[in-house]
Amino acid sequence: MSEPILEVSGVAKTFILHLREGAKLPVVEGAGFDLHAGECVALGGPSGAGKSSLLKMVYGNYRVDAGAIRVRDGEETVDVATTAPRRLIKLRDTTMGYVSQFLRVIPRVGALDVVAEPLVHDGVPVAQARARAGALLARLNLPERLWQLPPATFSGGEQQRVNIARGLIAHRPLLLMDEPTASLDAANRGVVVELIEEKKRAGVGILGIFHDTEVREAVCDRVIDVTSFGRAAA
Ligand SMILES: Nc1ncnc2c1ncn2[C@@H]1O[C@H](COP(=O)(O)OP(=O)(O)OP(=O)(O)O)[C@@H](O)[C@H]1O
Ligand SMILES: [Mg+2]
Repeated sequence: MSEPILEVSGVAKTFILHLREGAKLPVVEGAGFDLHAGECVALGGPSGAGKSSLLKMVYGNYRVDAGAIRVRDGEETVDVATTAPRRLIKLRDTTMGYVSQFLRVIPRVGALDVVAEPLVHDGVPVAQARARAGALLARLNLPERLWQLPPATFSGGEQQRVNIARGLIAHRPLLLMDEPTASLDAANRGVVVELIEEKKRAGVGILGIFHDTEVREAVCDRVIDVTSFGRAAA
């Protein structure tokens, strides 16, 4: 098999609750798994198991106490756990995308430009980026009358579709997704399943949290049970 695009090994993390007299909350210990190109792996386990936390560690939003998170970036391998912030930003620009659970709304920017922005950032001409954004929003059944409006007042499901379109529009070899379909109806969940399958065919490796069983079964090749990463008692 090809070299993994993501290799997590020996990752441990304990939250220190400063407002609770420094109480310790261990989340994961000895977390380890691989992810290959074209593969979709789900993080599983009950609420509070540490799925979102682990995803944030891979993206570099949460520091880890121990272990390595190696991401292949072309010919190089970057360890998210120890790399410099500037290298992490570059890694996110070229290699690692993140679809959060909720859209972080940018004031006064219309939906079409919110979605087109990652392509513009990659150097795609604005008109072309907008055309691709429109095509993606149309596939996700976002009514065209909303495209020029800022998503702040959109419904939960409309915002989630804008968020998914923004997260999927540019090519990133590694995609992290935290419950991308939680507020969607069945028809739009189906569209997201198709989009994820297209990404896999394009060789993208996906690590995600998919609460919806149907979506998970449709797109995921394996489930990693986060509770197996020994969450020791405090
Ligand atoms: N920044 C933080 N500071 C302190 N504790 C945190 C922080 N982030 C998460 N936790 C705690 O870590 C544990 C795991 O949280 P996490 O959000 O990773 O769970 P999850 O598996 O994603 O759950 P859900 O399925 O409900 O989304 C929880 O007990 C949570 O309270
Ligand atoms: Mg979560």
